[in-house]
Amino acid sequence: MGITGMIYMVTMVFSLIVLILSSSKAQQYDYFQFTQQYQPAVCNSNPTPCKDSPDKLFTVHGLWPSNSSGPHPHNCTNTTVKSQTIRSLKAQLEIIWPNVLNRNDHVGFWSRQWAKHGTCASPALKSDMQYFQTVINMYTTQKQNVSKILSRANIKPNGTTKALTDIQNAIRNRNNNMMPKLKCKNNSGIPELVEVSFCGDSNLTQFINCPHPFLPGSPYFCPGHVQY
Ligand SMILES: *[C@@H]1O[C@H](CO)[C@@H](O)[C@H](O)[C@H]1NC(C)=O
Ligand SMILES: *[C@@H]1O[C@H](CO)[C@@H](O)[C@H](O)[C@H]1NC(C)=O
Ligand SMILES: *[C@@H]1O[C@H](CO)[C@@H](O)[C@H](O)[C@H]1NC(C)=O
Ligand SMILES: *[C@@H]1O[C@H](CO)[C@@H](O)[C@H](O)[C@H]1NC(C)=O
Ligand SMILES: *[C@@H]1O[C@H](CO)[C@@H](O)[C@H](O)[C@H]1NC(C)=O
Ligand SMILES: *[C@@H]1O[C@H](CO)[C@@H](O)[C@H](O)[C@H]1NC(C)=O
Ligand SMILES: *[C@@H]1O[C@H](CO)[C@@H](O)[C@H](O)[C@H]1NC(C)=O
Repeated sequence: MGITGMIYMVTMVFSLIVLILSSSKAQQYDYFQFTQQYQPAVCNSNPTPCKDSPDKLFTVHGLWPSNSSGPHPHNCTNTTVKSQTIRSLKAQLEIIWPNVLNRNDHVGFWSRQWAKHGTCASPALKSDMQYFQTVINMYTTQKQNVSKILSRANIKPNGTTKALTDIQNAIRNRNNNMMPKLKCKNNSGIPELVEVSFCGDSNLTQFINCPHPFLPGSPYFCPGHVQY
């Protein structure tokens, strides 16, 4: 075997090692979905009533690493949220990310969201601290507070029926004209807006159109007019 053969062999072996290493910890998502839920609608559609009365606000449901062409990743590692992380962010998380169904168990809600979704957010978000802090920043400093966005577009949560396009346009005016994902549920015959999601690229550097909208026939499809 000549020097060319040697170089060829070494290159092949090296490539193989790189391939194995990188595939074993490749990112399992290609975009992020940042979902907020309208508290009264969450309580209306839950089989058991909420213990405490909901606020008329959209608050965080979760930040979910997602796959546009296959099943979404979940439970990617067995790491748990550090108590130190909870301690330092608790005051802010209680406001933007409450456990609407049970306000005595905010920590449980955050821990389950971390276990299911946060553990899959690496390499964009490398730790529990970075994961939760990023959500706080998105809602507050990056102004992705859906209640505020709708309110500024003069769409008030007074339980009347609103044109879906008005809601979509209000969001699109704030996210580079990208399509949000809207989820509705049937509340005794009236379609009610339950969730609004922003989608972002795998770096969380820019908004993208949300893949996988709920289509007609889905129980979560939002028709032309919805209650909010
Ligand atoms: C998304 O899911 C498909 C089908 O399971 C898989 O082939 C692909 O690798 C996944 N994408 C990412 C970024 O992990
Ligand atoms: C997490 O722990 C469970 C139970 O011990 C184990 O079956 C599973 O493989 C672990 N998952 C990961 C991603 O390490
Ligand atoms: C994934 O995490 C969630 C939230 O903690 C948990 O309820 C669920 O049982 C886990 N699933 C698996 C397969 O470990
Ligand atoms: C989000 O917006 C609503 C409506 O403007 C406001 O009442 C609420 O305080 C805001 N939340 C935060 C954390 O800024
Ligand atoms: C409800 O709010 C909308 C604005 O979102 C307004 O046009 C409408 O008049 C209000 N209706 C009632 C009954 O307050
Ligand atoms: C919504 O609920 C009403 C009554 O509860 C029912 O008649 C109707 O079929 C439901 N519609 C959908 C799309 O589920
Ligand atoms: C992520 O950011 C890097 C560096 O800014 C850039 O080169 C890359 O194209 C970005 N990826 C996506 C999916 O936007």
